[in-house]
This record gives sequence, C-alpha cells and structure tokens, in this order.
Amino acid sequence: MRRAVCPGSFDPITNGHLDVIARAARLYDTVHVAVMINQAKKGLFTIEERIGLIESVTSDLGNVKVESFHGLLVDFCKQREIPAIVKGLRAVSDFDYELQMAQMNMGLTGVETLFVPTNPAYSFLSSSLVKEVAQWGGDVAHLVPPQVLDSLNAKLQQQ
Ligand code: PNS
Repeated sequence: MRRAVCPGSFDPITNGHLDVIARAARLYDTVHVAVMINQAKKGLFTIEERIGLIESVTSDLGNVKVESFHGLLVDFCKQREIPAIVKGLRAVSDFDYELQMAQMNMGLTGVETLFVPTNPAYSFLSSSLVKEVAQWGGDVAHLVPPQVLDSLNAKLQQQ
C-alpha cells in the first residue's frame, strides 16, 4: 500500500490545493490530507468546516482520507506509516522555505518530500488571497470549488 500526505492549513481549500491532491491521488493508493491545527492563528473556517469541505470536494477521487493534526508533520506520518509528503510548488519564491522544511523533515525521520509543479493556472493562488478578494466583493468563482465558494460567501455574510 503506497501512502502519501498532502499537508496544509486549507483555510479554505482552493483549486490549486485540489489539483495537487488529485495528482497525488493518481500516484498513490491512499492520500492523507492533513489539516494543521494552529492554536496561535484563528482561521476563517473551523478545522471541522475545513475537513468537511475537503471531504466534499475530494469524494469523487475515492482514495483520499482527511484528518486534522497538531504538532509535527513527521509524527503524523510516523503514526500512519506514511513515507512521503507531496507538496505543490507555485513559484521559485516557495522553494527556499519548502526546501528547508523538506530537509528538516528528512533529517528528523527520513520522510521524503516530493514537489509537484503547480498548474500554471493557479500559480498565483493562495487561500489568503482568495479570502481577501472575496471579502471585498471580488470574483473568486474560478479559484475555488463551488461548495467552497458557497461556504465562503455564507461565512463572509455572517461577519
Ligand atoms: O498551508 P500551509 O499553512 O502553508 O501549510 C504549512 C504546513 C502545515 C505544511 C507546515 O507548517 C507544517 O508542516 N506544519 C506542521 C509542523 C511541523 O512539522 N513543523 C516543522 C516543519 S519542518
């Protein structure tokens, strides 16, 4: 059984994240999506809401398991015998920090990190930008799955 993990904050999941998860799901038997719990940073969506949205938009893939985690990603991997982390690289600017994390994680437990080049259509995309644009009434319908767009609009209306 070949397993990999796609980790992140996913606040909320975007088409860029989904593209990387779908590509990983074609390469591995099971892809674990690990949603980081960050007590220091309150997101727009709760962890449960993020998990629900990811489950909804990945349900057609059939081999994606969504879970939250706190602490070190390498411990999440060790507990589940996951040998590989799959990350998207949007631009050269992502590379320095991603390389540092990949080397640190390799040094800690020997877990591999595999980088996939982001689809150029999403190379500028981040959850933060989506939230900012949506907050000011900008159109993000082409950047997130429909379920996420609906939840984003509902959430922003509550504020
Ligand atoms: O979507 P994000 O916020 O860019 O994801 C960052 C994430 C969750 C992948 C990264 O912060 C992470 O792996 N955090 C877990 C804590 C950890 O293992 N830190 C050491 C990294 S070398």
